[in-house]
Amino acid sequence: MSSGQWWRDGVIYQIYVRSFQDSNGDGIGDLPGVIRRLDYLQWLGVDAIWLSPITVSPDADYGYDVADYCNVQPAFGDLGDVDRLIREAAERGIRVILDIVPNHSSDRHPWFTDARSGRGARHRDWYVWADPKADGGYPNNWVSAFGGPAWTRDEHTGQYYLHNFLAQQPDFNWWNSEVADAFDEIYRFWFDRGVAGFRIDVAHGIVKDRELRDNPLATKDDPPDVRALGQRMVYNIDRPEVHDVLRHWRTLADRYQPPRILLGETYVIDIRTMGRFYGIGDELNLAFNFTFVHAPLQAAALAEVVAETELIIPEVGWPVWTVSNHDVSRVMSRWCEGDERKLRTALLSLLTLRGTPVLYYGDEIGMPDTPIRKAELRDPMGKRHWPAPRGRDPERTPMQWHNETGGGFTNAALEPWLPIGDTARNVEDQQADPGSILSFVRDLIALRRTSPDLQAGQYRQLTSPGDTWAWQRGDATVVAVNLSGRRLFVPDLAGRVLISTTRSRDGERLHDGIVLGPWEGAICFSASTSAPVR
Ligand code: NOJ
Repeated sequence: MSSGQWWRDGVIYQIYVRSFQDSNGDGIGDLPGVIRRLDYLQWLGVDAIWLSPITVSPDADYGYDVADYCNVQPAFGDLGDVDRLIREAAERGIRVILDIVPNHSSDRHPWFTDARSGRGARHRDWYVWADPKADGGYPNNWVSAFGGPAWTRDEHTGQYYLHNFLAQQPDFNWWNSEVADAFDEIYRFWFDRGVAGFRIDVAHGIVKDRELRDNPLATKDDPPDVRALGQRMVYNIDRPEVHDVLRHWRTLADRYQPPRILLGETYVIDIRTMGRFYGIGDELNLAFNFTFVHAPLQAAALAEVVAETELIIPEVGWPVWTVSNHDVSRVMSRWCEGDERKLRTALLSLLTLRGTPVLYYGDEIGMPDTPIRKAELRDPMGKRHWPAPRGRDPERTPMQWHNETGGGFTNAALEPWLPIGDTARNVEDQQADPGSILSFVRDLIALRRTSPDLQAGQYRQLTSPGDTWAWQRGDATVVAVNLSGRRLFVPDLAGRVLISTTRSRDGERLHDGIVLGPWEGAICFSASTSAPVR
């Protein structure tokens, strides 16, 4: 049986608004553009769209530096456009989820402008300030996630302020109850407008150690990203008190009818820590699982992440899966090296695991990362680390709607804000081709909708040979993927193939297993499955 909760049963689609659809020829995507594409999203079959930040921002970090939480970035439209989007999306059965950034604001937010005006300013304590060390040095050893010290000295007042990201993104002081009150109002402002929920930026990190203690240094046994930072982020993220804040927000969201959902960016390095963000069903509804995103496309590795996730997430919780987003290389490039066969196995897995899939715009047509030249860089990370390939522009380029000038994204005479990738890969052509990746994704989403097993059934890994991964969902649905370049036999499968990655196996009757070709996968339905459970 389906759970009856749309966000558990459904598919969420992430839209990077700047790159989805430009409606006014300025080379930047906008809200009227999203509205124009609602018919497409309905055709694709998604249940909700999550929009990357649409609020006012000087764009030091493209929307993740907010200067007004209750107004729309003028390049994207206005509040009337948000209302229209919510209304027109609802008419097509699609909910709208926004992105909220409670860890930091822009340094141009009036609260911070006031805070830095003097030590006694009204909003001074809304941010994290600290005196220099006796030698004038940084208050502690914390480093920014974007590189360099997490502190910037404010010459006017002689103190340092904290920023876990850019200097233009000062961190809030969540020990101050006025900050909490201000965010309650922001949530209510949008919930009252009919927003279905929020993706919460840095949901694990908003509370900082009250004593601002030094982080312990990394050791050679730490994971590579920790070693790269040189320290374990023990005191500047994931403090125990963050759970109190999340519980409070959950109460607030649950008061609405229907309850609003909280989807957290819980960028923690292990599944156990991620699992804590569900609380006892009283914190986040969904906590992103980055261990999955960063695992390799290998059967054993992915199966292990899923098995551990299944163990750790409390009974009252619900997993969420994604394979791409605006911060990581696209799945087509990262996992699949441009190989469509691999992409199909990845998308098949994404859409058939137990949990809510979040599909990143463009993945449904197999967009790869777009190469970006130095002069085209927009992302501050990209600029800072150039020529190291750490920037996030390649995964943020415009949606490829058709194969003519502007790619259907824009009719701007000038270049769009980021270059458009190879439009030979585009929505229009793939919509017309039943064998395309887009048709495959659409058919998978449609199948999920009619399959209680795929929506809500238990996940059980089945015994299968190395390099294959097979699992049962619910009573009668089995998924098997071959994540290798060899033909492999997965035994003990009987029934009918519902969808295969090649589409050439659809409808095939299985009696005693399936031979999967290289990078092939299939969903099989059997009224009586007897495959051995691992
Ligand atoms: C996570 C967001 O996804 C990323 O794009 C942003 O740069 C940081 N948080 C800072 O807000």
